[in-house]
Amino acid sequence: MKTKIITTFSLAILTVFCFTSVKGNEPLTKKNPLSKETKMEKKIDSLLHLMTLEEKIAMLHASGTFTSAGVKRLGIPDFTSADGPLGVREEIVRNGWAPANWTTDSATFFPNGSALAATWNPKLAFRYGEAMGEEAHARKKDMLLAPAINITRTPLGGRTFEYMSEDPFLNGRLAVEAIKGIQTQPVAACVKHFALNNQETERGLVNVEVSERALREIYLPAFKAAIQEGHALTVMAAYNKFRGVYCAENDYLLNKILRGEWDFQGLVVSDWGGVHSTIGTGNTGLEIEMGSSGSYDKWYMATPLLDAVKAGKVSMAAIDAKVVRILRVMLQTSMKESATAGELNTPKHYKTAYDIASESIVLLKNDKQLLPLNSAKIKSIAVIGDNATRLFASGGFGAGVKTKYEITALKGLENKLGKSTSIQFAQGYSAKINREKKAIVSDPKLITDAVELAKKSDVAIVFIGSNRNYEEESIDRSTLELPFNEQALVNAVSAANPNTIVVVVAAAPYDLNEIKKNNHTIVWSWFNGSEGGNALADVLTGKTNPSGKFPFTFPVKLEDSPAHALKTFPGENHIADYKEGILVGYRWFDTKKIEPLYCFGYGLSYTTYAYSALTTNKGVYNKGDKIFVTVKVKNTGKMTGKETVQLYVSHLKSAVLQPEKELRNFQKISIDAQKESLIKMELNVNDLAYFDETSNQWVVEPGTYKIMVGTSSKDISQTAEITIK
Ligand code: BGC
Repeated sequence: MKTKIITTFSLAILTVFCFTSVKGNEPLTKKNPLSKETKMEKKIDSLLHLMTLEEKIAMLHASGTFTSAGVKRLGIPDFTSADGPLGVREEIVRNGWAPANWTTDSATFFPNGSALAATWNPKLAFRYGEAMGEEAHARKKDMLLAPAINITRTPLGGRTFEYMSEDPFLNGRLAVEAIKGIQTQPVAACVKHFALNNQETERGLVNVEVSERALREIYLPAFKAAIQEGHALTVMAAYNKFRGVYCAENDYLLNKILRGEWDFQGLVVSDWGGVHSTIGTGNTGLEIEMGSSGSYDKWYMATPLLDAVKAGKVSMAAIDAKVVRILRVMLQTSMKESATAGELNTPKHYKTAYDIASESIVLLKNDKQLLPLNSAKIKSIAVIGDNATRLFASGGFGAGVKTKYEITALKGLENKLGKSTSIQFAQGYSAKINREKKAIVSDPKLITDAVELAKKSDVAIVFIGSNRNYEEESIDRSTLELPFNEQALVNAVSAANPNTIVVVVAAAPYDLNEIKKNNHTIVWSWFNGSEGGNALADVLTGKTNPSGKFPFTFPVKLEDSPAHALKTFPGENHIADYKEGILVGYRWFDTKKIEPLYCFGYGLSYTTYAYSALTTNKGVYNKGDKIFVTVKVKNTGKMTGKETVQLYVSHLKSAVLQPEKELRNFQKISIDAQKESLIKMELNVNDLAYFDETSNQWVVEPGTYKIMVGTSSKDISQTAEITIK
């Protein structure tokens, strides 16, 4: 049981009602043994019968910034939450947003969402969830507001760093594992933001219009997987409207799809300040209202809801249904007996952060084989750029982590090479911005000093990119341009030292055209958690062979991206009409034959891989069959490496528009130098379905499909054709 202050009387009641054999966070679906007819449901029923209407209503809205009320006299404790997804957020005051200034609330800072996605490693996603779950449990949180899984629809999205990918399949695989990891503890994962919160611009006003097909094929699959495979106990409704109705009270999303089709039995919480009505939310909407303003008893789901029930405008049944859902989650979290107390800041958690960071770093170019750095030959390194010494655990609007420590890139290099190599630092640029996010003009001396240092060093490493003030919640970026005069810095340093390595530290696409053209050595890192600097130094020095792959497309120019090509971002008159439909991310670039700057799935290694011998177990399949695919991948270089083998499928002749290719499976494997691995992957014929808007169902069309396997979405070396009957 989580340590809560409870009276002896309530403890007695708790013992009667709660301390029975509820084990593990079981899937909340009707097919589950813990469904309506079970002991847990009986317990919920008994509690419900003891509650007054006032007590029920008190559970439906916040009683603190991150707390909602229980019923003390019945032994139902408060329900508490904390933000993820970068780690468990620092403690803030009960009623407000100021830090509580505790000394016991530091936590591990994990790599950001797109970094996790760049690992393409579901096992790491599980470890990430597990570590965060343990930390949330140790911090006595019942619900962790993570993972954040909205689709990266535009490269400018302010929360691209928190979200994972433009691809629903990659997104879903990682989300499922992260949720399972979190819920190894008596902590509910809260998948957010349901749904279609793909932009920050006017996020509280914008109405998203999207075709049913794109909804089903692009925007919902990761949520569906989160519920049906990850068994997430809670969901956060998004700020925006969908088809004219706020997500917090959207009957179609919440009742027809989430609770109806997907059989979700857990609770839906609002985003903070995301509830807009009493009667609508009361009748068709979510369970718990969070983050509204004014005194708690005036909130939509407080006294106004009580009055609406008394006036017969919201039914008692609707209120009971909400309370039942909340209790169902509580019985698996706050009211659950737990053998462990969770743990914070353990070496294991920092190792998880390190491993994710190590596998997330993307090698973009290594034309001169300057990497890995030859430390025997290199006597001096110029470390240049504000990002080499910057911390990323917090900053900007939105949740951060008060981390116990964070290794900067400079510190990482010093840890690794400091004894044998002279490492000197020059700031290179100033990252100060004004309120419009325009860089405040840097002192030209910053570049002059950097050039001087670069000239006298064997190697110059320029750390550019963005930071947590530049990429943040609540505002989208206005341009892909590199900020802070960074291009000028890169040009000047590259001219001064032929051995210049560019390291971009950022978490969303930027304009790297010039750097790609002019620079020979480029590495991409992220807001990479507490161990980010150590992980990066290990990649630069070759202890780690880079294996990250981009989870989204980098356009050559903004107008190449679908939402920008069709001018549907950020929308007009508060309407964002997703006219690109299913052609999001690489689906658009490939289908429209637009060359990206860096494609989805791109990332090099210090070794090379050769693909051969793609096979499928049959040539012709029936609906319901499994397709078994094998391919050989040989590490043809000199260093052990991890490769992500990507499997895409395309439907060659369809009655409707089909994307050129879609990711349907992937596998990350480690292969020793000169060794060959046989990779086995499977997919269901049913996975080849598209959502047919005429019949409103998933349809597998008969015909010929192409299976494509390769090292990125544009580098496909093995193909096979199969027929579906
Ligand atoms: C964000 C959520 C977050 C909540 C509480 C909102 O502004 O959209 O993701 O969980 O605040 O901090």
